[in-house]
Amino acid sequence: MSNIVIEAVGLGKQYRIGATPRGQRNFREVIANAATAPLRNFRRLRSIADPARMGGDPLVWALRDLSFTLREGEVLGIIGRNGAGKSTLLKILTRVTEPTTGYADVWGRVGSLLEVGTGFHPELTGRDNVYLNGAILGMDRPYIRSRFEEIVEFAGIGAFIDTPVKRYSSGMYVRLAFAVAAHLEPEILIVDEVLAVGDAEFQQRCLAKMDDVAHGGRTVLFVSHNLPSVQRLCPRSIMLHGGRILADGPSTDVINRYLAGGAREAHPGHWIDLDEVARTGSGLARFQGIRYSSGSTRHQLQPFTRGRLELGLTAVSNVSRDVNLSVSIWNQSGTKLINADTTALGRAVALRQGTNTFRLTIERLYLKPGAYVVGLWLGDRMGETLDRIESAFRFEVVDPHPERPTVRLDSRYDGPVACRFDVAEV
Ligand SMILES: Nc1ncnc2c1ncn2[C@@H]1O[C@H](COP(=O)(O)OP(=O)(O)OP(=O)(O)O)[C@@H](O)[C@H]1O
Ligand SMILES: [Mg+2]
Repeated sequence: MSNIVIEAVGLGKQYRIGATPRGQRNFREVIANAATAPLRNFRRLRSIADPARMGGDPLVWALRDLSFTLREGEVLGIIGRNGAGKSTLLKILTRVTEPTTGYADVWGRVGSLLEVGTGFHPELTGRDNVYLNGAILGMDRPYIRSRFEEIVEFAGIGAFIDTPVKRYSSGMYVRLAFAVAAHLEPEILIVDEVLAVGDAEFQQRCLAKMDDVAHGGRTVLFVSHNLPSVQRLCPRSIMLHGGRILADGPSTDVINRYLAGGAREAHPGHWIDLDEVARTGSGLARFQGIRYSSGSTRHQLQPFTRGRLELGLTAVSNVSRDVNLSVSIWNQSGTKLINADTTALGRAVALRQGTNTFRLTIERLYLKPGAYVVGLWLGDRMGETLDRIESAFRFEVVDPHPERPTVRLDSRYDGPVACRFDVAEV
């Protein structure tokens, strides 16, 4: 078995809400912070020990008693809802911040790409930052020079390489930061959500590069909300929730669990009470209940036979207003298959004060046998979210004749959605 390269033991991180701006902006601050760290730690320990000194600012645990090990060559995905503690974990592993409790041992040179803003010195040019980062990774100048063209080419920033990075757009910044992190041969590559920034083509290149790094036997930690990418890239994933590890195992299982996220499995024709499910949004109006059927039957959905999904929805509102609503359907690996959004119809829905009922019908829904998760969104006409439920419920599509499958089941070959087709000689 290969060597352990990361060992986190009982990691906890406590923040004071409102006291500090989120994250550290640049190298200088990181260095300055490191220099004053012993003093700050002392103060922090005192303030934790003595609640009277806390000055009234509430404290939150961003991470709680978190332990895991990672072996050389493993590619680990880290998923979880906003605020789950993912970035905090990466900041501890890269020594940008220190844990309040526990410790993390890391063996190997770490190349990292954290939230935009960390890792580069804003006053230095792109070129100088490449050399500075290389030096921090323990590379000598001739080696960095030998990779330089490749880095600039990957980043696609051309002549801007001699401009101070503070003048870069956030896209350029991230492209260069990723190019440096991935090309300077770190033994451990740590990437936080880089894909959220660049355009689709750059995202593809990043994923391909991370694939290379992973297949080159190096260790990768990848935080992302892009579940299909996590699924593709990472054999193993950890799911964080409220700063704790809720699941750790094969990505397929962990992603399933994340998507199901408490969503109950629901049978056709029954109202599902949405009062208790996890949600975000202003709450001015909120979904109350939902039920589904394939239209004319109360039986389980079948592929092709009806090809139709009917949803009954109730929502309560404090005021009368026009709203948009959407119903999305996700498959088990976290790909959004469809989004039926009234915004796309160009026609808002009138919501009365009190309880409202709608019927939303999706025609010709060619789902394959399997489990699906339904997400709901209610927003005002400016796009502000009144209510968002990532996973309202889970439902199954079953094949009525498993011995003679109506569609082939393996989405690796046949894609996530079924289609009707025919062929004829002409
Ligand atoms: N510098 C900070 N000061 C105070 N609180 C912080 C700070 N950084 C993070 N937090 C809090 O710690 C918790 C975890 O935040 P973290 O950024 O690690 O979440 P995340 O999983 O990366 O979320 P996202 O998916 O939105 O990136 C949140 O409650 C957050 O508000
Ligand atoms: Mg984050």
